[in-house]
Amino acid sequence: MSDFPRKIIIDTDPGQDDAMAILLALGSPEEIDLLGIVAVAGNVPIERTSENARKICEVAGRPDVLVFAGCDRPMAHTLVTAEHVHGKTGLDGIELPTPTMPLQKQHGVDFIIETLRREAPGTVTLCPMGPLTNIATAFEKAPDIVERVQEIVLMGGAYFEVGNITPAAEFNIYVDPEAADIVFKSGVKLTVMPLDATHKVLVTAPRLQAFKEFGNHLGEVVAGWLDFFERFDIEKYGSKGGPLHDPTVIAYLIKPGLFSGRFINVEIETQSKLTRGMTVADWWGVTDRPKNAMFMGDADADGFFDLLTERVRRLG
Ligand code: RIB
Ligand code: CA
Repeated sequence: MSDFPRKIIIDTDPGQDDAMAILLALGSPEEIDLLGIVAVAGNVPIERTSENARKICEVAGRPDVLVFAGCDRPMAHTLVTAEHVHGKTGLDGIELPTPTMPLQKQHGVDFIIETLRREAPGTVTLCPMGPLTNIATAFEKAPDIVERVQEIVLMGGAYFEVGNITPAAEFNIYVDPEAADIVFKSGVKLTVMPLDATHKVLVTAPRLQAFKEFGNHLGEVVAGWLDFFERFDIEKYGSKGGPLHDPTVIAYLIKPGLFSGRFINVEIETQSKLTRGMTVADWWGVTDRPKNAMFMGDADADGFFDLLTERVRRLG
């Protein structure tokens, strides 16, 4: 029996790279059954992330997608945002109309809980690609749902690549380390797309050109987002393009062979001010701490962009 389509909930803080993940999911109906999108405060505040999620669905021609607003702040810290990377709107790069599709009334955390209780155990995958606040809050509010989760595939953390928001921490984990700690200790099957993998999938000029050559509104929108989004990383790392972090989560579900990594112990620093949000990954197996995460270290960039471009083109 095929594993497809995988029932998933995307938990997200759009974000141009989040947008590409949502488009990849919507362009892959054979493999992905998107049950809903839950916005979280992260790159920009919740009002914007929940609006951006709907803008993305409308760009994809999918105003039917259920979009929910989740938590508006981390569990224990004040919100840190990333307008310096994503712009004031969080989706800078092209002007998009205010969405007309509805924002669901139900709180996103309650949607996660209700969906996991309704669907058969082990059949729903959670795909967080922002701070883990919604997931952790749902687990705290309804501990019975934890064992019902098929898998969590998340974008976050770093080991060899170290931090992108502080010297020690990647943004999604840094914003809400307490939430990440709950998720990484939950016992749920966990696959992690850290910067070690996402920094391998850079939007180089030829890859950006491939979107521009769609020759339609969708291509124009995607090119606008990616053109804007890459500035931060090119300036900071001198890289050949912006790393498309979040679509790696969806690409993994569709073609897991695009990625490689190790099943290791990963724990989250929550106490130290200096290294708050660091993912302490035992890549070399120097401790006897229990292994809890498939931590990706490499990605087939050409294969990833071939998949992403082909699937997003379908939406045009
Ligand atoms: O560190 C990269 C992550 O932080 C991505 O998910 C990006 O969208 C931001 O949320
Ligand atoms: Ca994100």
